Amino acid sequence: MGERNQSVQSIASSALDTDTIPAEFIFPKVEQPGVNTFDGPVPEIPTVDLSDPDKENRTRSIVRAAKEWGFFQVVNHGIPGHVITKLQEAGTEFFGLPQEEKEVYAKPPDAKSIEGYGTKLSKGTQSWADHLFHKIWPPSSINYQFWPQNPPSYREANEEYAKYVKEVADEVFRSISIGLGLKDHESVLKEAVGGEDLQYMMKINYYPPCPRPDLAFGVPPHTDLSALTILVPNEVPGLQVFQDDHWIDVQYIPNALVIHIGDQIQIATNGYYKSVLHRTTVDKNKVRMSWPVFLEPPGEFVVGPIPQLLSEDNPPKYKPKMFKDYAYCKLNKLPQ
Ligand code: OGA
Ligand code: NI
Repeated sequence: MGERNQSVQSIASSALDTDTIPAEFIFPKVEQPGVNTFDGPVPEIPTVDLSDPDKENRTRSIVRAAKEWGFFQVVNHGIPGHVITKLQEAGTEFFGLPQEEKEVYAKPPDAKSIEGYGTKLSKGTQSWADHLFHKIWPPSSINYQFWPQNPPSYREANEEYAKYVKEVADEVFRSISIGLGLKDHESVLKEAVGGEDLQYMMKINYYPPCPRPDLAFGVPPHTDLSALTILVPNEVPGLQVFQDDHWIDVQYIPNALVIHIGDQIQIATNGYYKSVLHRTTVDKNKVRMSWPVFLEPPGEFVVGPIPQLLSEDNPPKYKPKMFKDYAYCKLNKLPQ
């Protein structure tokens, strides 16, 4: 595998009227989405109404969903529809710019951080997606060089979304922390993964139309290395989660946010909550996009099982580790 600088977007536009895709995008038969997507009655993925005035009920629903699925959608979450629409419009306009204009924000070749525009070069089969990464919170962590200047609305749209998404994150952290049943319950989990220093990494996924959606993936199966992921999709379905040995389609609910439990929460809770295995398929005719925000501990922050959770019956399953070392091992497929 050599270096590929070409975006999947431009590969896709030259494949538009064909019914083939380059071999490097074709997954082995048994892994292909056309072969192993579950096609039958499926259990319903939980949806939690965050405007439920009964706080205990709200907490209970979040805890149950996080425990049983590691994955759920939230509605009536307090982020105004226009804030989400603006975020989507700004990102969509950016990906609509000519290739040279997007390349201005390209991830520098030897950069340590993942920030910038690009396409993931996997060791194995390639993904049918381009992306843009940049931090949106806390303000001191932001590198504006990776925020598009065009469209001009981009900055305000992202700054506004960041303020609101923080509120949702705090509510989720509070609830699943209470679910652990510890004494100083409300804040213990968030503190264990970075507290107020948590970094919010925005990613825009751009999945161009694909002539053979049965053979390729937007993102192959993985768990997120974040603590928590909060995602806005567009209206084109494609996200699937793995539950009870089946890949299940996630239904698109307008204005809902998709929440994933990530690896750092699994580690901090010694496996009480589990990070969910998920993947994305692509569409034959439509562009799919999504805006996950990954809530990550600072690089030097050590995450390990919360001591109060451990006992003789519940010995530690994970080694405490700096987040940056965890990320390095995971990205390079090394043992943790
Ligand atoms: C990811 C991811 C899901 C989606 O980028 O890690 O899982 O719906 N994306 O695009
Ligand atoms: Ni993911």
